[in-house]
Amino acid sequence: MKILGISGSLRKGSWNSAALREAVALLPDHELSIAEIGDLPLMNQDLEQDGTFPAPVERLRAQITAADAILFATPEYNASIPAPLKNAIDWASRPANTLAGKPAAIIGVSPGALGTSRAQYPLRQTLGVLAVQLLGQPEVFIGAAAQKFQDGKLTDAGTREFLGTALAAFVAFAGRVKIG
Ligand code: FNR
Repeated sequence: MKILGISGSLRKGSWNSAALREAVALLPDHELSIAEIGDLPLMNQDLEQDGTFPAPVERLRAQITAADAILFATPEYNASIPAPLKNAIDWASRPANTLAGKPAAIIGVSPGALGTSRAQYPLRQTLGVLAVQLLGQPEVFIGAAAQKFQDGKLTDAGTREFLGTALAAFVAFAGRVKIG
Protein backbone atom coordinates (compact mmCIF):
# COMPACT_ATOMS: atom_id res chain seq x y z
CA MET A 1 0.00 0.00 0.00
CA LYS A 2 1.13 3.52 -0.79
CA ILE A 3 0.83 5.66 2.35
CA LEU A 4 1.50 9.39 2.66
CA GLY A 5 2.65 10.60 6.08
CA ILE A 6 1.92 14.20 7.02
CA SER A 7 3.52 15.68 10.14
CA GLY A 8 1.99 18.81 11.63
CA SER A 9 5.36 19.94 12.97
CA LEU A 10 7.94 21.82 10.91
CA ARG A 11 10.75 21.67 13.45
CA LYS A 12 13.80 19.55 12.73
CA GLY A 13 13.75 17.78 16.08
CA SER A 14 10.02 17.08 15.95
CA TRP A 15 8.79 14.11 17.96
CA ASN A 16 5.82 13.78 15.62
CA SER A 17 8.03 13.58 12.55
CA ALA A 18 10.19 11.05 14.44
CA ALA A 19 7.07 8.96 15.07
CA LEU A 20 6.33 9.03 11.33
CA ARG A 21 9.90 7.90 10.58
CA GLU A 22 9.37 5.06 13.05
CA ALA A 23 6.17 4.17 11.19
CA VAL A 24 8.25 3.79 8.00
CA ALA A 25 10.38 1.22 9.84
CA LEU A 26 7.34 -0.52 11.32
CA LEU A 27 5.65 -0.93 7.92
CA PRO A 28 8.38 -2.56 5.80
CA ASP A 29 5.83 -4.13 3.45
CA HIS A 30 4.33 -0.77 2.53
CA GLU A 31 5.61 2.36 0.86
CA LEU A 32 5.32 5.22 3.38
CA SER A 33 6.66 8.57 2.20
CA ILE A 34 6.58 11.77 4.24
CA ALA A 35 5.14 14.94 2.72
CA GLU A 36 6.82 18.34 2.90
CA ILE A 37 4.36 20.99 4.08
CA GLY A 38 6.77 23.66 5.30
CA ASP A 39 6.93 25.42 1.94
CA LEU A 40 3.18 25.74 1.41
CA PRO A 41 1.99 29.34 1.30
CA LEU A 42 -0.62 30.34 3.84
CA MET A 43 -4.11 29.67 2.53
CA ASN A 44 -5.13 32.53 0.30
CA GLN A 45 -7.77 32.02 -2.36
CA ASP A 46 -6.14 34.75 -4.43
CA LEU A 47 -3.34 32.23 -5.12
CA GLU A 48 -5.80 29.92 -6.90
CA GLN A 49 -6.18 30.57 -10.59
CA ASP A 50 -8.77 28.67 -12.61
CA GLY A 51 -8.40 25.57 -10.44
CA THR A 52 -4.58 25.68 -10.40
CA PHE A 53 -2.50 26.23 -7.29
CA PRO A 54 1.04 27.33 -6.32
CA ALA A 55 3.63 24.61 -7.11
CA PRO A 56 4.09 23.30 -3.53
CA VAL A 57 0.31 23.00 -3.21
CA GLU A 58 0.04 21.13 -6.51
CA ARG A 59 2.80 18.79 -5.29
CA LEU A 60 0.99 18.01 -2.02
CA ARG A 61 -2.34 17.55 -3.79
CA ALA A 62 -0.74 15.14 -6.28
CA GLN A 63 0.89 13.17 -3.44
CA ILE A 64 -2.44 12.84 -1.65
CA THR A 65 -4.23 11.83 -4.86
CA ALA A 66 -1.60 9.14 -5.53
CA ALA A 67 -1.74 7.73 -1.99
CA ASP A 68 -3.91 4.79 -0.95
CA ALA A 69 -4.00 6.08 2.64
CA ILE A 70 -2.86 9.02 4.76
CA LEU A 71 -1.15 8.89 8.16
CA PHE A 72 -1.33 12.16 10.10
CA ALA A 73 1.07 12.84 12.99
CA THR A 74 -0.03 15.91 14.87
CA PRO A 75 1.36 18.00 17.68
CA GLU A 76 -1.10 19.90 19.89
CA TYR A 77 -0.81 23.69 19.71
CA ASN A 78 -2.90 25.62 22.21
CA ALA A 79 -5.30 22.74 22.60
CA SER A 80 -5.97 22.39 18.90
CA ILE A 81 -4.63 21.57 15.40
CA PRO A 82 -1.25 23.18 14.61
CA ALA A 83 -1.52 25.87 11.95
CA PRO A 84 0.88 24.22 9.44
CA LEU A 85 -1.24 21.06 9.41
CA LYS A 86 -4.55 22.93 9.16
CA ASN A 87 -3.06 24.98 6.33
CA ALA A 88 -2.02 21.82 4.45
CA ILE A 89 -5.46 20.26 4.92
CA ASP A 90 -7.17 23.45 3.78
CA TRP A 91 -5.12 23.46 0.56
CA ALA A 92 -5.78 19.75 0.02
CA SER A 93 -9.51 20.33 0.46
CA ARG A 94 -9.93 22.91 -2.28
CA PRO A 95 -12.00 21.69 -5.25
CA ALA A 96 -11.70 18.93 -6.10
CA ASN A 97 -11.15 17.82 -2.47
CA THR A 98 -8.14 15.50 -2.75
CA LEU A 99 -8.81 13.94 0.66
CA ALA A 100 -12.34 12.73 -0.08
CA GLY A 101 -12.72 9.03 0.56
CA LYS A 102 -9.09 8.49 1.61
CA PRO A 103 -8.54 6.07 4.47
CA ALA A 104 -6.54 7.79 7.21
CA ALA A 105 -5.31 7.48 10.77
CA ILE A 106 -4.05 9.99 13.31
CA ILE A 107 -1.17 9.65 15.72
CA GLY A 108 0.22 12.38 17.95
CA VAL A 109 3.08 13.04 20.36
CA SER A 110 3.32 15.63 23.12
CA PRO A 111 5.54 16.24 26.12
CA GLY A 112 2.56 16.35 28.50
CA ALA A 113 0.23 13.65 29.73
CA LEU A 114 -2.63 14.24 27.28
CA GLY A 115 -0.71 13.08 24.21
CA THR A 116 -2.36 15.52 21.74
CA SER A 117 -5.95 14.44 22.39
CA ARG A 118 -7.06 18.09 22.27
CA ALA A 119 -5.57 18.39 18.77
CA GLN A 120 -6.78 15.01 17.53
CA TYR A 121 -10.47 15.55 18.25
CA PRO A 122 -10.76 18.82 16.31
CA LEU A 123 -8.66 17.20 13.57
CA ARG A 124 -11.18 14.35 13.44
CA GLN A 125 -13.96 16.90 13.08
CA THR A 126 -12.25 18.62 10.12
CA LEU A 127 -11.30 15.37 8.39
CA GLY A 128 -14.81 14.01 8.88
CA VAL A 129 -16.28 17.02 7.08
CA LEU A 130 -13.86 16.30 4.22
CA ALA A 131 -15.19 12.73 3.88
CA VAL A 132 -11.92 11.17 5.01
CA GLN A 133 -12.43 7.59 6.21
CA LEU A 134 -10.81 7.70 9.63
CA LEU A 135 -9.67 4.74 11.66
CA GLY A 136 -11.64 4.91 14.92
CA GLN A 137 -9.53 2.66 17.11
CA PRO A 138 -6.92 2.38 18.38
CA GLU A 139 -6.33 6.03 19.14
CA VAL A 140 -2.63 6.86 19.42
CA PHE A 141 -1.87 9.46 22.07
CA ILE A 142 1.83 9.39 22.93
CA GLY A 143 2.52 11.53 26.03
CA ALA A 144 5.67 12.07 28.11
CA ALA A 145 7.66 12.27 24.89
CA ALA A 146 10.92 13.32 26.52
CA GLN A 147 11.10 9.90 28.18
CA LYS A 148 10.28 7.98 24.99
CA PHE A 149 12.42 9.61 22.31
CA GLN A 150 16.19 9.97 22.16
CA ASP A 151 18.24 11.62 19.42
CA GLY A 152 15.25 11.85 17.10
CA LYS A 153 14.25 8.21 17.55
CA LEU A 154 11.40 6.50 19.35
CA THR A 155 13.34 4.39 21.83
CA ASP A 156 10.62 3.29 24.28
CA ALA A 157 9.96 -0.38 23.54
CA GLY A 158 6.37 -0.42 24.81
CA THR A 159 5.44 2.61 22.72
CA ARG A 160 7.03 1.11 19.61
CA GLU A 161 5.09 -2.08 20.14
CA PHE A 162 1.85 -0.16 20.62
CA LEU A 163 2.54 1.97 17.53
CA GLY A 164 3.22 -1.19 15.53
CA THR A 165 -0.11 -2.69 16.62
CA ALA A 166 -1.96 0.52 15.76
CA LEU A 167 -0.30 0.72 12.33
CA ALA A 168 -1.21 -2.89 11.59
CA ALA A 169 -4.83 -2.03 12.41
CA PHE A 170 -4.53 1.02 10.14
CA VAL A 171 -3.27 -0.84 7.07
CA ALA A 172 -5.88 -3.57 7.55
CA PHE A 173 -8.58 -0.89 7.78
CA ALA A 174 -7.22 1.00 4.77
CA GLY A 175 -7.13 -2.21 2.73
CA ARG A 176 -10.81 -2.82 3.54
CA VAL A 177 -12.12 0.65 2.79
CA LYS A 178 -9.82 2.08 0.11
CA ILE A 179 -11.42 3.17 -3.12
CA GLY A 180 -10.26 1.56 -6.35
C1 FNR B 1 2.76 23.93 22.17
N1 FNR B 1 2.82 22.77 22.93
C2 FNR B 1 1.66 22.24 23.49
N2 FNR B 1 1.65 20.97 24.03
C3 FNR B 1 0.48 20.44 24.51
O1 FNR B 1 0.48 19.30 24.96
N3 FNR B 1 -0.67 21.17 24.51
C4 FNR B 1 -0.74 22.43 23.98
O2 FNR B 1 -1.80 23.02 23.96
C5 FNR B 1 0.46 23.00 23.46
N4 FNR B 1 0.48 24.24 22.89
C6 FNR B 1 1.56 24.67 22.17
C7 FNR B 1 1.46 25.83 21.40
C8 FNR B 1 2.51 26.20 20.59
C9 FNR B 1 2.36 27.42 19.71
C10 FNR B 1 3.70 25.44 20.56
C11 FNR B 1 4.84 25.84 19.65
C12 FNR B 1 3.83 24.34 21.34
C13 FNR B 1 4.08 22.05 23.09
C14 FNR B 1 4.23 20.97 22.04
O3 FNR B 1 3.56 19.81 22.46
C15 FNR B 1 5.72 20.67 21.87
O4 FNR B 1 6.39 21.83 21.37
C16 FNR B 1 5.95 19.49 20.97
O5 FNR B 1 7.33 19.19 20.98
C17 FNR B 1 5.48 19.77 19.54
O6 FNR B 1 5.60 18.62 18.75
P1 FNR B 1 6.90 18.29 17.85
O7 FNR B 1 7.35 19.59 17.21
O8 FNR B 1 7.94 17.75 18.79
O9 FNR B 1 6.44 17.28 16.88
